[in-house]
Amino acid sequence: MHSLIIFASGKGSNAAAIIDYFKKTGEARVSLIVSNKADAGVLDIAKREEIPFLIVDRQTINQTLILEQMASYEPSLIILAGFLWKVPDQIIKAYPDQIINIHPALLPNYGGKGMYGHHVHNAVLSAKDTESGISIHYVNEVYDSGNIIVQARCPVHETDTPDMLAAKVHKLEHYFFPRTIEYLLQNK
Ligand code: GRF
Repeated sequence: MHSLIIFASGKGSNAAAIIDYFKKTGEARVSLIVSNKADAGVLDIAKREEIPFLIVDRQTINQTLILEQMASYEPSLIILAGFLWKVPDQIIKAYPDQIINIHPALLPNYGGKGMYGHHVHNAVLSAKDTESGISIHYVNEVYDSGNIIVQARCPVHETDTPDMLAAKVHKLEHYFFPRTIEYLLQNK
């Protein structure tokens, strides 16, 4: 069975979607959750699902100990699901082509530092774009610039609020993220 490590800073609805999906298929399991926020909702999910978790700070995420801890779970993929810090180069180098991220817009638009959550949706609405969506991509040393694996789109209406757009984007994320992970695991 494939082992997955999830990095997340927030509520963890994507983490929950991934955990639930692979519980059904039995093809993979989330073996570790890493968060930079001690009060992140994703840690409640980890506790509920009895998944080991690690809380990192700026120092510990840069130490080799985290690499040793991650390696002990022998991950097939490292999944960034709303992880707000840049992943240190030592982790990226240790897992070439094995780290993927989900971004709540159609990259290369609306990416880069500071572009997360409602900042992204506000920018899409201000630009009067008629569509938005999600991008699932490999992670390299530069924010939101790794090769794109999958994009999915949704319409944006003039009357959409940031919350309404976020809900549409989340729906796409929860559907496509687990299935893209499954595709990658099957085509390794
Ligand atoms: C998602 O919209 C994801 O695209 C972004 O952060 C959000 C995380 O949401 N990178 P959740 O914590 O999975 O609910």
